Amino acid sequence: MKKSNKITALLLCAALLLPLIAGCANVGNESKVIGLFMPSKNEPRWIQDSDSLMRQLQNKEYRVEPRNAEDDVELQIRQIEEMIEKGCDILVIAAIDSTQLQATLQRAADKKITVIAYDRLIMDSPHVDYYVTFDNFEVGRLQGEYLEKALDLPNSNGPFHIEVFAGSPTDNNAIFFYDGAMSVLGPYLDSGKLIVKSGQVERVEVATQDWLPSLAKERMAGLLNTYYQNGTELHAILSPNDAVAMGIIETLKDFGFDGDEKPFPLITGQDSDIANIRAILAGEQAMTVFKDTRTLADRTFRMIDDILLNKSAETNDSKTYHNNLKIVPTYICKPVMVDAENYKRTLIDSGYYEMADIMD
Ligand code: BGC
Repeated sequence: MKKSNKITALLLCAALLLPLIAGCANVGNESKVIGLFMPSKNEPRWIQDSDSLMRQLQNKEYRVEPRNAEDDVELQIRQIEEMIEKGCDILVIAAIDSTQLQATLQRAADKKITVIAYDRLIMDSPHVDYYVTFDNFEVGRLQGEYLEKALDLPNSNGPFHIEVFAGSPTDNNAIFFYDGAMSVLGPYLDSGKLIVKSGQVERVEVATQDWLPSLAKERMAGLLNTYYQNGTELHAILSPNDAVAMGIIETLKDFGFDGDEKPFPLITGQDSDIANIRAILAGEQAMTVFKDTRTLADRTFRMIDDILLNKSAETNDSKTYHNNLKIVPTYICKPVMVDAENYKRTLIDSGYYEMADIMD
């Protein structure tokens, strides 16, 4: 072969090989399948969680199979079991009912599929390999601390009237939120500085099944009609999240609260939903908690990557989250208190929202 022909042949070979070499980092990734199960689209956070996680996993060219079960427990179980049948490597599950997945996870274990509980711990199964979440006790503590400070409980005599709402009994997180808030408010309830006129304070009696705003709305109306009709002021409402807070606010508006002549009680929340940031700016809600879903997604992504590379996944807690059968190795992310004073710093400057999203 002539020298010039040899060079042409070499260049041709290189040109053919180049795409293979360039794609090397991801070779084989697309054969790894990750099932991603979110509970619903009713609350914006689950959409944000899913979007962030999808973005990261697809960048690495993993095949992601996202499913959303619209808060239907049976549908979520079916979706997970179909995925197990089809074949996948990792299941990432934000459970609708954390107590209903034992049989399903047994099937996953039989097929050697790794299970990551996402945000909500899956209970009563030995087959939960990892958990990635926020510090759920801290979420409640931030809510309690906000009320403590806003009412100046350490220094004032009170008494102040408060009503208490909790999250869904199907969600292990709800226990942590409630316990965290009560770790601050409990002593003031005991001393009588805080009074619950309805007397309803135990978590089971103040729970909001499936986190439904409509149920919170209904319960709030009952409370106002029964206990706050004679001009008795209601100073604060412990609401476990933004969706429940929205239900409560709707009722308060129906009862004439307007943030002006009739100021709203101090209402807590969690998730930093746009509607609730607007409510905070309008003086309807006092605070929320920011749980940066980008961080949670990033931690989950790193876990997945490590597991698929046969490395041990990074966790930072091995004592807090017991699912009744075992302590699940967990990566815990940090929640942040948000109110009218710091929302720009926490939500806008961090690029989580644009100012226009909130002002629209
Ligand atoms: C999540 C909260 C959410 C609630 C209702 C909890 O498990 O941690 O962020 O507001 O579920 O969806």
